Amino acid sequence: MLDLVLAVGHHLTIFALFGVLVAELVLVRKGMDDGAIKRVANIDLWYGILAGVIVAFGFARAVFAAKGWDYYQHNAVFWAKIGVFVVIGLLSVPPTIAYIRWRKPDASPSDAAIASVRRFLWLEVALFALLPILAAAMARGYGQMI
Ligand code: HEM
Repeated sequence: MLDLVLAVGHHLTIFALFGVLVAELVLVRKGMDDGAIKRVANIDLWYGILAGVIVAFGFARAVFAAKGWDYYQHNAVFWAKIGVFVVIGLLSVPPTIAYIRWRKPDASPSDAAIASVRRFLWLEVALFALLPILAAAMARGYGQMI
């Protein structure tokens, strides 16, 4: 039962995080007004919260459920998945800094700043696609080192 609850929580929060990423891509575009800036900054708060919850669910699954920590700690694909998730997290920092800056009065973003944030968001989406692939492989024993 614990395994099921953690798996459901893991998957729902992952879908929610992907939704946040897509919402940011839809909102961040040339000519965005103050309302859109406020909305994207608020949505971005959820990015951090959800990422934290995903890490908690993920490690809870790895340690207390599924196959046990001994299985994952020796699985290279598991660590590749964690690595990709960390890189995505790092790529989300410049957009967050930009939203904070844009929220200040009279600080509307230039077209170049918007294009730069969109590049970061697209990179995150591209790397995100790797995660279910790595997850499915690690769950099936690929990357097992011993
Ligand atoms: C620190 C972050 C994460 C940790 C520690 C973690 C850990 C785990 C663990 C232990 C499992 C169980 C695998 C098994 O049944 O043997 C799992 C499954 C899964 N994870 Fe994660 N995960 C993390 C983040 C993510 C993210 C961001 C995604 C995004 C797509 C993701 C997608 C999946 C999927 C799709 C499965 C099911 C795989 C399958 O049964 O075929 N995980 N994860």
